[in-house]
Amino acid sequence: MSEETTAGPAEGQPLSLWLATAGATDFPQLHGTVEVDVAVIGGGIAGLTAALALKRSGHSVAVLEAGRIGTGVTGHTTGKVTSLHRLAYTDLQRSHGVAAARSYGLANQAAVEYIGAVVDAENISCGFRRAANYTFAAGPDALPQVRAEAGLAADLGLPSTFTVDVPLPFPVAGAVRFDGQAQIHAVQYLQGLAGRVDGNGSFFFERTRALELREGRPVTVAAADGTVLARDAIVATNVPFADHGRFEALCRPHRSYIVAAPIDTPPLDATFISADEPMRSLLTVRLNGVTYLLAGGEGHPAGTQVDPAPRQASLAHYARVQFGAGGVAYRWSTQDALPLDGVPYAGPLNPDSRHAFVITGLRKWGLTNGTAAALMLADLLNGTPNEWAALFDTNRATSRAATAPGPPAAPGDTVPRQKAARRTADLAPGDGTVIETDGTSTACYRDPAGQVHAVSATCTHLGCTVGFNREDRTWDCPCHGSRFDVDGKVIQGPATEDLPGRPAP
Ligand SMILES: Cc1cc2nc3c(=O)[nH]c(=O)nc-3n(C[C@H](O)[C@H](O)[C@H](O)COP(=O)(O)OP(=O)(O)OC[C@H]3O[C@@H](n4cnc5c(N)ncnc54)[C@H](O)[C@@H]3O)c2cc1C
Ligand code: FES
Repeated sequence: MSEETTAGPAEGQPLSLWLATAGATDFPQLHGTVEVDVAVIGGGIAGLTAALALKRSGHSVAVLEAGRIGTGVTGHTTGKVTSLHRLAYTDLQRSHGVAAARSYGLANQAAVEYIGAVVDAENISCGFRRAANYTFAAGPDALPQVRAEAGLAADLGLPSTFTVDVPLPFPVAGAVRFDGQAQIHAVQYLQGLAGRVDGNGSFFFERTRALELREGRPVTVAAADGTVLARDAIVATNVPFADHGRFEALCRPHRSYIVAAPIDTPPLDATFISADEPMRSLLTVRLNGVTYLLAGGEGHPAGTQVDPAPRQASLAHYARVQFGAGGVAYRWSTQDALPLDGVPYAGPLNPDSRHAFVITGLRKWGLTNGTAAALMLADLLNGTPNEWAALFDTNRATSRAATAPGPPAAPGDTVPRQKAARRTADLAPGDGTVIETDGTSTACYRDPAGQVHAVSATCTHLGCTVGFNREDRTWDCPCHGSRFDVDGKVIQGPATEDLPGRPAP
C-alpha cells in the first residue's frame, strides 16, 4: 500500500466493469457423451483462443467452462493488449538471455496482431481499439530503467521508443512507448470467441466443471453429468488441474485490485503502467456514454489475509488526485499465476504426456501471453513448427529468477488470523474466520442475517488451510489459488471438489 488514505466504506459496486457491461450468456451444460478431436478445459482467453484456432484449422473441439464466460481471470483483467509488459525485457534478458527475451517479445507482439485480425475476420464487437502503451517513470529514480527497457526492446525488434512526451494528465519523467498496441472489452471478446467455437460439430459448454482427465486413447474428460472423449486435451484452467501438483512448484498465484472511476475527459489513446512502486496500471474506456479510468495495482500473494479496503482506497485516491475522478463506480480483484522463472508454460501437461497439454503461468499478461501460448499449442497439434515452443516448453529446466510484478503484502497490512473470532458467537455479521477445535479447522462465516455457514477449512486440492477474503466473502487458499464460496463450493481451481459442510463449532 502506498498513498495516505483513510479507508472508509468501500466505494462502488463489487463487480468487474467488463462483466457489468457485457450481456449474459446461456450456453448449455454438458450432458451425455460427446466425441471431438480436442477437448479444451477452461473458457478464458487461453482456452477459447486455442479452441477457435483449432476449429479454424479443421478440428472439432469441445470447451468445458466451469462457470459463465468471463467469470474467471480474463473477465477481471485491465484489458491491455500489448507486448510491453512493464520492464519485462530487462528481467528476461537477465534471467534467460537475449534470445529468450526476443522470442517472448515477438510472440506477444504476434498475439497483439492476431487478436486484431480475429476481431476483424470474425467480426467480433469488443471495443478493440489501437492505443500506444507506455511504461512510465513517475520520477527520476525509475528513469534509467525505463530508458534501458526502451533501448533493449527496440533492439529486440519491438515497436519501442523512449519519450518524455507522455499523454498523462500529470507530469512524469519519461517512458517507454510501444506503438500499435491495443485494448479490448475482454468479456465481449471471449463471448465472441465462444460464439464462433460453438456449432458445426464443435461445442461450448457453460456450468460444466471438468472433474477428471484420463490420458489414453481417447483422452477422457469427465464432468458431473457428461464425458468428452477426444484425441487430445488442453487444460486451460488458469491454474491447472490433473497435473499431479507439477505446476504448483513452478508458479505462484498473485492477486491485484482494480477500481473503475468515471472521469470527465474523453478516453486517452494510450494505456499506461508505472515502472515505479507503488505500481499503477491505467486504462481509459468509454462504455454506455461514460468514460471510465481503470486504476489497478496493490498486488500481493493470493490467499494472504489482506484487508482489501485500504488497497482499494489507495487506488480510488490515485484516480481522484491524478485524473480528477469523482468516485468509484466498480471495484474488483483477481489473481493470476506468476511463473517463478518469469516465462509462461505451454506444452505437455505431464513430462510423459502425449495427448494432454496445458497453458499456465501467464504472469498477469495473459491477454497476449495466453493468446501466444494457445496459438503455439494449436500449431503443435497441427504438426506445424512453431518458433516459440522452446520458450514456453513445460519440460524446460527452470532458473527461478522470480520476476513477480508488484510487492508482496506489506508487514502490518495483513489481518492477523489469531485476532479473529475463536468462537462463532464472536463472529460479526459479514465476517469469517477459521476456528480450531480438537485438531480440526472449520471455516466459519456469519452472513448478514446472522446465520453461520461452516465448512472444512482444509483445501480439497492438497490440504492447505484456507483464509477468509472479506471483499469477495470467499475462502481463498494461499497455496495454489483455489477459492470457495461461503458454503464451500469451488469457484476457482485447481481444486475440483467442494469443501465439505461441518457443524458450526
Ligand atoms: C488485476 C489483473 C489485471 C490484469 N490485466 C491484464 C491486462 O491488462 N493485459 C493482459 O494481457 N493481462 C492482464 N492480466 C492477466 C490476464 O487477465 C490473465 O493472464 C488471463 O486472463 C488468464 O487467462 P486464462 O485463460 O488463463 O484464465 P481464466 O480467464 O481464468 O480462464 C480459465 C477458465 O477455466 C475455468 N475453469 C477452472 N477450472 C475448471 C474446470 N475444472 N473445468 C472447467 N473449467 C474450469 C474457469 O472458470 C475460467 O473461466 C491481468 C491480471 C490481473 C490479476
Ligand atoms: S490450492 Fe492447492 S492446496 Fe489449496
